[in-house]
Amino acid sequence: MNFEIPSFPVSRPRRLRQNEAIRTLVRETHLEKTQLVMPYFVRSGKKLRIPIQAMPGNYQLSPDELLKEATKVQQSGIKAILLFGIPEKKDEMASGAYADDGIIQQAIKLLKKELPDLLIITDVCLCEYMSHGHCGIVKKSKGNWNIDNDSSLKLLAKTSLSYAHVGADIIAPSDMMDGRVQAIRQVLDENGFENTPIMSYAAKFASAFYGPFRQAAESAPQFGDRRSYQMDSANALESLREVALDIQEGADIVMVKPALPCLDLIYKVKTTFGYPTAAYSVSAEYSMIKAAGEKGWIDEKAIILESLTAIRRAGADIIITYSAVDVANWLK
Ligand code: PBG
Repeated sequence: MNFEIPSFPVSRPRRLRQNEAIRTLVRETHLEKTQLVMPYFVRSGKKLRIPIQAMPGNYQLSPDELLKEATKVQQSGIKAILLFGIPEKKDEMASGAYADDGIIQQAIKLLKKELPDLLIITDVCLCEYMSHGHCGIVKKSKGNWNIDNDSSLKLLAKTSLSYAHVGADIIAPSDMMDGRVQAIRQVLDENGFENTPIMSYAAKFASAFYGPFRQAAESAPQFGDRRSYQMDSANALESLREVALDIQEGADIVMVKPALPCLDLIYKVKTTFGYPTAAYSVSAEYSMIKAAGEKGWIDEKAIILESLTAIRRAGADIIITYSAVDVANWLK
């Protein structure tokens, strides 16, 4: 957008700030419950509600408890949840990710039976299911290790198809392998799921802001780090290339992650491509605010609302946030 600034003063901005009715009338950005997605961690068992230390208010839930939470989510006015699974056993082929009775498959079946209208987005990644905690197949030779990008694609596609089969509404690959959107799109199309959208974690940075999540999902890499597949947080142009590739490969919604440290990229992605854009306000964004709030150092509610509004203002249409349910209740 280009502004032409008149050379003489025509407006006194303060006039439009005098009371809440006027401020609301001219407000440019609105935060709506329907734009929020609430993430959950599910593991097998019954009546399990294991608190996640680094993310107060979040739990590893068994499917029955997840159903209770999801029922409350729906009542709060939120339309979509994002699921992460913690399998009973991990191995070197992530077989828990695509097993017919895998934890995500069980959870989706139950939720779809009881709450058919709640949108279920499934994170597709292998790290939670791999004994080494990496997002793809690891090849080792002479003390070195590498991610086998292309053979990982088959497992990611298989996992996506398995989620779609049991009723996942949106597939969200977060692994950052090259070519995964195309591989997933192809397998979905070949199996009658041509109407299942893909929300790709398109610009996903190798970020320290995922620290608390790895405790929650038990997915910390056992050696090395994720910098050979996730992006260098110094790079902006590269994030546009990542997004362009995912769009070319068939992504319907593109995501930038993390959110607050990447407001510039959310803006660039939205204005460059004009695609539905999601931002993931990740675990540490949540935990830092929670911790300072618990200490009484900040006004937690005001900071969350201001942060999420800033993410919307930068251009995000959709925000994934662990505060989604709280926010929906505040917005009532
Ligand atoms: C799986 C995945 C991660 C997150 C979402 N999907 C962790 C990672 O990439 O290490 C992070 C979410 C968060 O921090 O809230 N690959």
